[in-house]
Amino acid sequence: MITYRQATLDDVDGMAEVEAASWPRSLAASRKAIADRVSVFAAAQWVAVLDGRIIGAAFAQRICLQQLQTTPLTYEYVTDHGTFRKTHLSDGPIYQLVGVGVAPAGQGMGCGRALIDRQIEFARGIDGITRILGFTRPVRFHQFPQLSIEEYLKRRSESGHVADPVLSFHLDSGARLVSSHADFRPNDHESRGYGILIEYPA
Ligand SMILES: CC(C)(COP(=O)(O)OP(=O)(O)OC[C@H]1O[C@@H](n2cnc3c(N)ncnc32)[C@H](O)[C@@H]1OP(=O)(O)O)[C@@H](O)C(=O)NCCC(=O)NCCS
Repeated sequence: MITYRQATLDDVDGMAEVEAASWPRSLAASRKAIADRVSVFAAAQWVAVLDGRIIGAAFAQRICLQQLQTTPLTYEYVTDHGTFRKTHLSDGPIYQLVGVGVAPAGQGMGCGRALIDRQIEFARGIDGITRILGFTRPVRFHQFPQLSIEEYLKRRSESGHVADPVLSFHLDSGARLVSSHADFRPNDHESRGYGILIEYPA
């Protein structure tokens, strides 16, 4: 059975392994960045554990609206290069989901969804949190170079769901699309650099 819990510094190696296995190399958070995240705000870093091994990890921090209104808005800016060191505010009203990853062998079993659901449940219980937001990835956008981001976001599968699998992971589970941001993560080639801001009900 998969169990879900908040991370401690002892989990950092396992979380870094999951990160390296699940994300494209240029996007995976480093061991050092993960250690920083746990040091800064351990309660918002969650792990999924199966048979004593970490198979999934989901990260978050607290920020304020002004941080999202800065231009240019980039992943490096809004996460302090993935560390949360200068960006996490202990009284920030926005709970920002930063990334979820599941090791390939554990994907498709509901683990990613359960991690995000745990994060949302936790955020809703924090005094002073008014919004739950996250930047996600239009991960198959690179397969449609002829489309603008607006056209790509309108694509639907035959069953009527948002066609992009990572977007549908969020949008089919209660999140709404807020805005799209060019050059959010220029090294996310699959997403053609775009970050898509989504929001779950707080
Ligand atoms: C996105 C991710 C965390 C999903 O984890 P998971 O444990 O496989 O997800 P779940 O089993 O809970 O949910 C599966 C759903 O996710 C969606 N999905 C996400 N990525 C998918 C992929 N590569 N292929 C197919 N479906 C995918 C599907 O909608 C699927 O729904 P279904 O089960 O009804 O078909 C995982 O694919 C991953 O680690 N990806 C790489 C890192 C990344 O891009 N993270 C997203 C950042 S916001």
